[in-house]
Amino acid sequence: EETLRLWAPIPMIAKAPIDGTVIGDRYELKKGTRANILMGALHCHPKAWDRPEEFDIDRWLPENRVQQHPHAYKPFGNGVRACIGRQFALTEARLALALVLQRFRFSDTTDYQMDVREALTRKPGDFQLVVRRRQEHQRTVFGAADLRTGDTQAQAAVSGVGVNLTVAYGSSLGSCEDLARTIADRGERSGFGTTLMSLDELGDNLPTEGLLVVVAASYNGKAPDNAQRFDDLLATGLPQGSLANVRFALLGAGNTQWVATYQAFPKRIEEGLLAAGATPVVERGIADAAGDFDGTATRWMDILWATLAEEYAADTSQASGPRYQVQLLTESDV
Ligand code: HEM
Ligand SMILES: Cc1cc2nc3c(=O)[nH]c(=O)nc-3n(C[C@H](O)[C@H](O)[C@H](O)COP(=O)(O)O)c2cc1C
Repeated sequence: EETLRLWAPIPMIAKAPIDGTVIGDRYELKKGTRANILMGALHCHPKAWDRPEEFDIDRWLPENRVQQHPHAYKPFGNGVRACIGRQFALTEARLALALVLQRFRFSDTTDYQMDVREALTRKPGDFQLVVRRRQEHQRTVFGAADLRTGDTQAQAAVSGVGVNLTVAYGSSLGSCEDLARTIADRGERSGFGTTLMSLDELGDNLPTEGLLVVVAASYNGKAPDNAQRFDDLLATGLPQGSLANVRFALLGAGNTQWVATYQAFPKRIEEGLLAAGATPVVERGIADAAGDFDGTATRWMDILWATLAEEYAADTSQASGPRYQVQLLTESDV
């Protein structure tokens, strides 16, 4: 991220206002006037960045990141036409770097200074490193990773016989749909009368009672593909009091890379459901695809089932201790 700040591969994007507007009380832009946004100037603006020219990866520690102006960093563009590959590119970069560093050692024997070559994107010119295969003794060995889930308790036993459970998802790439399916499967096994559907389908079939679990993502602040009509419904307002007998749990998926619109759609869903009279069962879950997404989602689901277990307790006289335990073994364990 710090590399993208100082050496944004796309040095400029162009935007034009849909309607005439004034920026900062000073610059009048008529409808359709093209404005070029220069990444170099923005990413090194002294009002937004402390020691702007200095390469400092600590800027991106979570506690420092939250201090940044939400519009001071745009290597992936802006708004609804921002880069669709952002999440993929950053994941790929991490993976590539980890794999390469695992196998090779690099040295910069000529003290390389940046020489920008600019075509469609910017890249370093004549950049050469000496590469050596990493030997076993050159690896840093940390203590054996202990990634046990820590959750060795028996799964909370829930019996939902006679209770309707609607599980709805807003998902374009499938992670929220997967999570919703996991919840619905468990609901089904626990005896709930379970229905799984997209949020758009939910909009056509709003429940009048029972439990509603929603798992939803955001895309540049907008709803995912299969939840756009539901978002329109939220904008006009769900009928007041229509969900007075419905209790809900909401898990939002998002990515802190999208600073200004992080968790935007789940937040709108929560407001809409509350305004229609629904009662929350647990706090809104917040899973961050730039962090421990699976861990957070799993913990939220554990809390959900534990809370439901208090109300819909199953006869546990037959239960026999932990049903599962997940442990990741390191090479030396094997
Ligand atoms: C570090 C890597 C990348 C950077 C810095 C980057 C940067 C950008 C920027 C600045 C824009 C907006 C252009 C504008 O507003 O005129 C953009 C758009 C786009 N990018 Fe990327 N990108 C990267 C990687 C990727 C990857 C890996 C993909 C595909 C897998 C991708 C696909 C796209 C697409 C399809 C758009 C157009 C989106 C639209 O107009 O709705 N990008 N990118
Ligand atoms: C193009 C794109 C735009 C995104 N925009 C946002 C956003 O505005 N706010 C946010 O919190 N997350 C955003 N995300 C992150 C997704 O919401 C997150 O990856 C989520 O897990 C995707 O869920 P899905 O696989 O169910 O579609 C975006 C991801 C992509 C690929």
